Amino acid sequence: MPRNQESATDYINSLSSEVDPILAVISDNQSSWQKAMQLEKYEGKLVYILLEMIAAKNVLEIGMLNGYSTIWIANAVKKRDGIVYTIEKNQDYIDAFLKIAHTLSHNIKCIHGDAHEVLKDFTDPMDAIFIDADKNGYIEYFMHAKRLLKPGGILIVDNVFLYGNVYGASRKKVSQKSIAKMQKFNLLVSQDPDFQTVIIPTMEGLMVARNIKPLSKVYSHSCLIPENYGVLYEDNTTWRKKPNGKKR
Ligand SMILES: C[S@@+](CC[C@H](N)C(=O)[O-])C[C@H]1O[C@@H](n2cnc3c(N)ncnc32)[C@H](O)[C@@H]1O
Repeated sequence: MPRNQESATDYINSLSSEVDPILAVISDNQSSWQKAMQLEKYEGKLVYILLEMIAAKNVLEIGMLNGYSTIWIANAVKKRDGIVYTIEKNQDYIDAFLKIAHTLSHNIKCIHGDAHEVLKDFTDPMDAIFIDADKNGYIEYFMHAKRLLKPGGILIVDNVFLYGNVYGASRKKVSQKSIAKMQKFNLLVSQDPDFQTVIIPTMEGLMVARNIKPLSKVYSHSCLIPENYGVLYEDNTTWRKKPNGKKR
């Protein structure tokens, strides 16, 4: 951890305005351990800005807790009538959250269950996916992200430093197996040619990875598009067949 990371975090947080008063209500109602697990205010703002930049509409969150990050995401997508699908295994967290966030409930869909089970049946293409749940499950979640992310979509993943353990500066003891798994996950995403990936050195390590493969196919090699596929739909990514098989 850089020496002044904590004071830098406080300083940046003091400059980061929240976009929704519910965020402060959620933060103020949490126990200290819950607060330690939720995103920092500036990280929420960063997620919000990234989602705005790609004009995200549908976002999947894995690991909701008290819904602090969910509210940032919901605010980023709401002007496009977007939806946040958030998976949380603890029903008590969902109940507590819905009492506070009922005004946003039209664009937040809480899904109660183990994300590994829920995702098996999940097929909706997503503009962005935020992973912030069981750390040993990150490789499996990445496989789902590869399947579900739209072209140009972004993957955001928290805690990829595993409390400093992935680079040999442990702030919390975890098993060697867990360290090896997180190191493997970081390598897997960073070396995947379908993604442009960077890890931002926040306290916990925040990964941002952009799905680039289908975009490069469409834009750099337009000859790959069959002749009768001439209509580029509003989402700017999907080529579909022209009616009656007409040529471009
Ligand atoms: C770090 S907290 C999420 C914090 C939240 N994203 C935020 O920033 O406000 C992790 C959450 O993931 C949930 N979780 C862990 N494993 C899960 C699983 N397999 N399926 C669904 N939720 C899970 C935990 O119950 C916990 O609420």
